[in-house]
Amino acid sequence: MANTEDKVVAKQENATTWKDSFYNPRTGEFMGRTASSWALILLFYLVFYAFLAGMFALTMWVMLMTLDDNVPKYQDRVPFPGLAIQPNSLDIIYNKSEPLKYAPYVQKLESFLLSYNDTEQEKNEECTRGEYFLQDDAEDMEKKACRFKRDFLSLCSGLSDTNFGYSEGKPCILLKLNRIIGLKPRGEPYITCAVKKDEPIQMQYFPREGSIDKMYFPYYGKKAHETYVQPLVAVKLLLTKEDYNKELAIECKVEGSDLRNNDERDKFLGRVTFRIKVEA
Ligand SMILES: *[C@@H]1O[C@H](CO)[C@@H](O)[C@H](O)[C@H]1NC(C)=O
Ligand SMILES: *[C@@H]1O[C@H](CO)[C@@H](O)[C@H](O)[C@H]1NC(C)=O
Repeated sequence: MANTEDKVVAKQENATTWKDSFYNPRTGEFMGRTASSWALILLFYLVFYAFLAGMFALTMWVMLMTLDDNVPKYQDRVPFPGLAIQPNSLDIIYNKSEPLKYAPYVQKLESFLLSYNDTEQEKNEECTRGEYFLQDDAEDMEKKACRFKRDFLSLCSGLSDTNFGYSEGKPCILLKLNRIIGLKPRGEPYITCAVKKDEPIQMQYFPREGSIDKMYFPYYGKKAHETYVQPLVAVKLLLTKEDYNKELAIECKVEGSDLRNNDERDKFLGRVTFRIKVEA
């Protein structure tokens, strides 16, 4: 019998110690600590985190002070640009006898070329061909841009032929390298296109040989180089009767320079493949 009594007492003791560990009315301890002890701990953490937040804000501020709005600070090497096309569709399909089918492509080209029209480009500089247009000395000045007029694109300018060749079944595609700040391609970059798999087709390039002049480099960034326009290359696909109603895969690449065009993981790096089908 004594055994069970012992147990009851033990149980009661257990219960009180458990309760005491939460709040002990005798010592006034709450979860093992007095109110002043808790207050000290809270104060300690408050000061500690305030200090951390302050450190963070300070380093952030110092970092931001050293950043230039126009130039990415940590760029160990300038990345290579991707190649993009206009009309910006990788599947171009239309019937050359149905204006409604090709009108969207013509409109895209037309609106894309607005920034290249004479009134805009008259404001830009006539630069020296074959040389980088360096403006590093003028640190905080607005950078000037080199002129690229849409009539450089001749038959693909939309000026002489307002349908960009779409109605005659010899459509124009515009190509441009994406903007990369500070990029200075070495060599003589040009763009060349070829049909994949099928028989080759005749193509015509504007400007001549699809060349991209060095004077359009480097680019100094959106803020500093507001009027900058990318140099364009137009390729006119001289399709013939045999090429109609067939889906052609065409690959364009930038060649002749150190710009990469064969990255296995990035199929838009310096190259682009699109499909075109002209129905007749
Ligand atoms: C150039 O585009 C503007 C609109 O942005 C237009 O008003 C002007 O007529 C165009 N100039 C030429 C020569 O096409
Ligand atoms: C293209 O359009 C013409 C005229 O509407 C039509 O006769 C022809 O069958 C069309 N071609 C194809 C492949 O749909």
